[in-house]
Amino acid sequence: MKIEARNISFVKAGACNTDCLIVLVDFDWLFGDTPQHSESLLSKPQWLTAVLSALPGQQSESSKSKHLLISETLGSKAKRILLVNTNNYNKLAECDADTAHKTRQSLARHATFIWSTLFELPVKKACVITPFAEDHHYTQALLDALLFASYRFKGFKTSPESKSPDYIKSIIIGVEQNELLPDIDLAMAIHRGKSLTRDLANLPGNICTPSYFAKTAEVLASESPLLTTEVLDEVMLKKMGMGAYVAVGQGSEQPTCMPVMHYKGAEDPDLPSIVLIGKGITFDTGGITLKKPPGMQNMIYDMCGGATVMGIMATLITLRLPINVIGIIATAENMPDGKAFRPGDILTTLSGQTVEIISTDAEGRLVLCDAMTYAQQFNPAAIIDVATLTGAHIVSLGSHASGLMSNSQTLSSALLEAGELSGDRAWAMPIWDDYQESLDSFAADMRNSGSNSPGMITAGCFLSRFAGNTPWAHLDIAGTSFQYGTGNSASSRPFSLLFAFLSQCSESTNYQWTISPVLY
Ligand code: BES
Ligand code: MN
Ligand code: ZN
Repeated sequence: MKIEARNISFVKAGACNTDCLIVLVDFDWLFGDTPQHSESLLSKPQWLTAVLSALPGQQSESSKSKHLLISETLGSKAKRILLVNTNNYNKLAECDADTAHKTRQSLARHATFIWSTLFELPVKKACVITPFAEDHHYTQALLDALLFASYRFKGFKTSPESKSPDYIKSIIIGVEQNELLPDIDLAMAIHRGKSLTRDLANLPGNICTPSYFAKTAEVLASESPLLTTEVLDEVMLKKMGMGAYVAVGQGSEQPTCMPVMHYKGAEDPDLPSIVLIGKGITFDTGGITLKKPPGMQNMIYDMCGGATVMGIMATLITLRLPINVIGIIATAENMPDGKAFRPGDILTTLSGQTVEIISTDAEGRLVLCDAMTYAQQFNPAAIIDVATLTGAHIVSLGSHASGLMSNSQTLSSALLEAGELSGDRAWAMPIWDDYQESLDSFAADMRNSGSNSPGMITAGCFLSRFAGNTPWAHLDIAGTSFQYGTGNSASSRPFSLLFAFLSQCSESTNYQWTISPVLY
């Protein structure tokens, strides 16, 4: 599918020769007497008045509908016109964060609707036009939303009609000559990364294995001279002393590994890297502490963190952002077996600290803690881990905000801001010492799950013990990265948050994150 932005004026959009002209517009203005619609548009263009005059029924009724598909397109060259009601419109750069968030959400809904209509008709070429194109941020957000909603997981259905309908050949976004064109390359690079994230996340455990992650990381590296991939295998991990990491995959037939991707995009190759670590448990049965069957199939999504990190790396090589980033996929499969690790086991981590296993189902923190210690050797500017870590996250924040825990007030603020800016929000949780006590163990330095405690926070407390002197942040994405229990619906979150954060980093590589207690 080809996407382009072209100079098509809203006033003259009637001349647009297309299968379907999509008009995002406020219906109160269209059918009522709201005098002015946007800064520059005072009255309805002629073509639009002509199209509306041929509509049957009461205009006041039409004004209440969400959309109208018109095939009598008098006054316009389009074969069909799809009017989409934006209700009210808010200038994205000027409104408060909450309003901007809602505007983006409604754009996402419009985009989903637009795609399903185009697929159903079906249509080969479409043109999207809006009188709000003068707002560059709005047009960019519209483009992002359209691309996001165009994603289809290919899946494994075999009937011909279930093959993904790759029918739409081109989409044109129309903007006035004097307005800023949306940055299509940027949008496409983001779309590529998000789609890779969603593909990996949606793939089942028998396909997307730790080796599949390793292969994907190698393929990305072969595409760009800025990226090198090193895959540490199980023998190497064991030899290095990553006792917690290796224990998690011990019960699985799938070999454990740890793909490490070095992206060097900064002019200064010695610029400290930002390390991203993604939890990539390709299937989480819970291990010997076996999960209950209902819903266990959702644990194919227990690698959404790893998928997001992989997606980010794909976008980085496409855009060649001038920063240095190391992407680590902490990947293994958590299975019960004669060789599996068990509750009561005491493991020695790469940091030297020992862990008493209370539950083999608290496995994410075990792969992450060793990956965090491993990352220290690069003297990174920051370590950020992303993980579907706890069911408690879903209970606390649901699907709206990722849970942020950090040892650095400055890093935490930057990530929260990136979340607000991108509409991919996070919310900070405390990891005070008061919470740390529940990790006390009688025999080891700590236990891997807290006693009778808020699970998301104690998981964060556990990880904090492996951050050393590095500014570190943890994002629990159990509730945000996929829709629990509804088929193949990976959201790609927190891709947008991380990308907004990295974009800001690339603008000023003078990182100033310092370790200090987070006082939220
Ligand atoms: N992968 C799960 C967390 C999870 C649950 C992610 C639901 C997405 C949806 C994680 O490995 C896990 O099992 N966590 C346990 C931790 C507990 C044993 C301390 C949990 O949350 O119950
Ligand atoms: Mn688990
Ligand atoms: Zn898990």
